[in-house]
Amino acid sequence: MFKNLAIRGGKPIVSNPIRRPSPIGKDEIAAGVRVLRSGVLSRAGRGREVLKFEVNFAKYCDVQYAVTTTSGTTALHTALEAIGVCRGDEVIVPALTFVSSASVILQQNARPVFADVDPDTFCLDVSDFKKKITPKTKAVIVVHLYGNPANMRDIIRIAKKHEISVVEDCAQAHGAIYNRHRVGTLGDIGCFSFYQTKNMTCGEGGMVITNKKKLYEACKSIVDHGLIDGYLQGYNYNRLGHNYHMTELQAAIGLAQLKKLNRLNNQRRRNAVLYKKLLSDTPLRFQRETHLGSSVYYGLTALLPEKFISKRDWFIEAVRAENVEINNLYPHALSRTELFRKYNSVKLPVAENVSARLFNCYTNPGITKYYIHATSRAIKKVLSNL
Ligand SMILES: Cc1ncc(COP(=O)(O)O)c(C=O)c1O
Repeated sequence: MFKNLAIRGGKPIVSNPIRRPSPIGKDEIAAGVRVLRSGVLSRAGRGREVLKFEVNFAKYCDVQYAVTTTSGTTALHTALEAIGVCRGDEVIVPALTFVSSASVILQQNARPVFADVDPDTFCLDVSDFKKKITPKTKAVIVVHLYGNPANMRDIIRIAKKHEISVVEDCAQAHGAIYNRHRVGTLGDIGCFSFYQTKNMTCGEGGMVITNKKKLYEACKSIVDHGLIDGYLQGYNYNRLGHNYHMTELQAAIGLAQLKKLNRLNNQRRRNAVLYKKLLSDTPLRFQRETHLGSSVYYGLTALLPEKFISKRDWFIEAVRAENVEINNLYPHALSRTELFRKYNSVKLPVAENVSARLFNCYTNPGITKYYIHATSRAIKKVLSNL
């Protein structure tokens, strides 16, 4: 059906490379201009945008407290510090995730303990999590990977029994709902990223949310140099903190994006459904939603058949040569990377296998049906030539 692959000199599916549209619309531009005109770029300069973003994000998530940060990484770092993770502690984290879900553990001089992932949902495997608990375990970082909420009911039950804090890494799952609750509100503390590619963005930025007053107060202080009670009470510090402040510009853009978050997530879902339909006659297997309708599809993740495992990287290159976009988050288990290998000597068969077979299709709001059709055709073309 398909002729020569573009990677071998054939005609590509699309003559010119197709690209995802910008996530920034007129509302975000107006918000940015408003802040620039005001001349107030930081909250300490009496800005109101950061405060409003925290209040509105907390309202949206139906949670009591929210604190902005400079990124998802610094949100996770703030959360671990607030919980009190320190040298000698162990923190359990799934092996299939972005580097900062685990690097923040090292920043606290604690030990990352990698757990395997579920073969269908690709989120933390509950039974392996249970096996990895020791008397040193202080916390677990649960990642709602690619927008799909992890099995929080069982994870929280086990964590409670062992008195382990639960940190939710929601960097890819803004607005996802699990058992009638937004992710980030199920564990002790939830962390979000507003990086360019995320379900909502302000370029760079992050947020920590919690219902626990003590954790909230700790987070407020940690992101603000360890300050006690704000500057109105004098320059007084009681802990080592950081400058993790979000700017007014970021917050204003974040507020504009928050207003559209449900719509943006619905578009991501619709795009994922269309890819699945177009690719339903292929041997690809897709990430399974933990509960039907619970994923906000940061991307659509597919697995190549086992027999093609050694060809995955070539497959991605060949599809891209057709002038369409696909990605591979994440091409290997974190536990196998140079940084983390020394903390992990055990095999994590599912994370290692899934990461070697997966690729992701972009679901970004604003991509056209043509984009999805062309990408699906390119995937099928390369699959039929593997
Ligand atoms: C699962 C996960 N955790 C944490 C982060 C870190 O967020 P940021 O890039 O905003 O630091 C990301 C972002 O890529 C992520 O995807």
